[in-house]
Amino acid sequence: MGLKKVKIDELDFNPFTKIGKEWCLITAGDSVKNCNTMTASWGSMGVLWHKNVVTVFIRPQRYTKEFINQSTHFSLSFFNSEHRKDLSYLGKVSGRDNPDKIAEVGLHPIEIDQVISFKEANFIFVVKKIYHDQLESDSFLLDDLVTKYYPEHDFHEFFVAEIEAIYTKE
Ligand SMILES: Cc1cc2nc3c(=O)[nH]c(=O)nc-3n(C[C@H](O)[C@H](O)[C@H](O)COP(=O)(O)O)c2cc1C
Repeated sequence: MGLKKVKIDELDFNPFTKIGKEWCLITAGDSVKNCNTMTASWGSMGVLWHKNVVTVFIRPQRYTKEFINQSTHFSLSFFNSEHRKDLSYLGKVSGRDNPDKIAEVGLHPIEIDQVISFKEANFIFVVKKIYHDQLESDSFLLDDLVTKYYPEHDFHEFFVAEIEAIYTKE
């Protein structure tokens, strides 16, 4: 089954359910052999600086972040429920400890435009980094968020990235 490009205005996609409930893979790298991926269930999609953007939140210790740091682009890949267990595994095991984690779940990396995604993905967002920063303890307006989510002070870094293309299965 091939991929077709979809216009963002014609997209039938609920980011709250897709990211928050169904999760996605954030993948970066320069080839199918040199890439890494991680599961994400936090993130947002919207408009900033008159651009259609995604924002992803990644803790500093994630191996995938090293690949994102080295790339101009990365991808967000969404799957049907049959791959839930794969995303669960890829969200527990680090590529730093286990470089074969993608092969172990049986997903097939593909190169598309300037990013790496997966043959099995239903929706692929090709995005270009445009802003990068880290959440700051002093900027939180609710103290309990820091206590609850950052007991080790490993504040998420965030990347705002412009959506350059979206693909779905034909
Ligand atoms: C459902 C789910 C959602 C997750 N969401 C995030 C997230 O939004 N940001 C993050 O930094 N880690 C998130 N994680 C944790 C990473 O996916 C996990 O630490 C992963 O093993 C990192 O892999 P890596 O070290 O190879 O990059 C999530 C894990 C799961 C299971």
